[in-house]
Amino acid sequence: MIIEAVGIERKYKQGQNIIEVLRGLDLAVERGESIAILGKSGSGKSTLLSLLCGIDRADFGQIFYDGTEITHLSENKITELRSKKIGVIFQQFHLIEHLSALENVMLPLEINNVEAAEEKAIEALKKVGIDQRASHFPSELSGGEKQRVAIARSIVNTPNVLLADEPSGSLDEKTGDEVMGLIFDLVKNTDMALILVTHNQELAHKCDRILILENGTLHDLENNS
Ligand SMILES: Nc1ncnc2c1ncn2[C@@H]1O[C@H](COP(=O)(O)OP(=O)(O)O)[C@@H](O)[C@H]1O
Ligand SMILES: [Mg+2]
Repeated sequence: MIIEAVGIERKYKQGQNIIEVLRGLDLAVERGESIAILGKSGSGKSTLLSLLCGIDRADFGQIFYDGTEITHLSENKITELRSKKIGVIFQQFHLIEHLSALENVMLPLEINNVEAAEEKAIEALKKVGIDQRASHFPSELSGGEKQRVAIARSIVNTPNVLLADEPSGSLDEKTGDEVMGLIFDLVKNTDMALILVTHNQELAHKCDRILILENGTLHDLENNS
């Protein structure tokens, strides 16, 4: 198992109210497996992904990554783990505006003092078909191109897990389809696991398993029909 989440709880305070977003959520992901997560807006999908990659912390429960419990790791250790082993792709790309495409992709390598960072970053840009834009800044790229750069950044360290939060959500249909095709190609025939948050049923059905986030826990699709 590459990821195991056990009894995850996360609540947020909004003014006077406390919203319990995740209420004892369990998830087990095998190496190389692809999982789609569906759920209404506000059901906690992004919250879950940010816990799985250690950007946010659970109030309760445990997350194991390749057997190691990450819940209590220091900020530095989690950042290191994330940059080495977990690729993350967001709807809004989250590129750094004052860095070129190439420099954005080199970042995770530089954090880890990986050698030949530039060559490896160019290699990753080639894999997503955008190496000819290496010196461009995000503001000079289209949405689809930005997402390709973000995908290159997410895979440059050859992670074990790719977490994608509605990666085609801010792209037009054709560009979104291309980007999704690219993501599926990248994980196919590798032992990289994919956790894909999407609203798109068709995309979800391309994954090995579909889970629905509802009332703070995950359910198999079969039990929901
Ligand atoms: N940092 C935060 N502070 C307060 N409330 C939050 C925060 N992040 C998310 N929420 C709330 O948690 C709920 C789940 O949000 P989110 O995980 O973004 O849902 P989804 O991605 O499924 O649309 C929403 O009600 C949202 O308003
Ligand atoms: Mg979301």
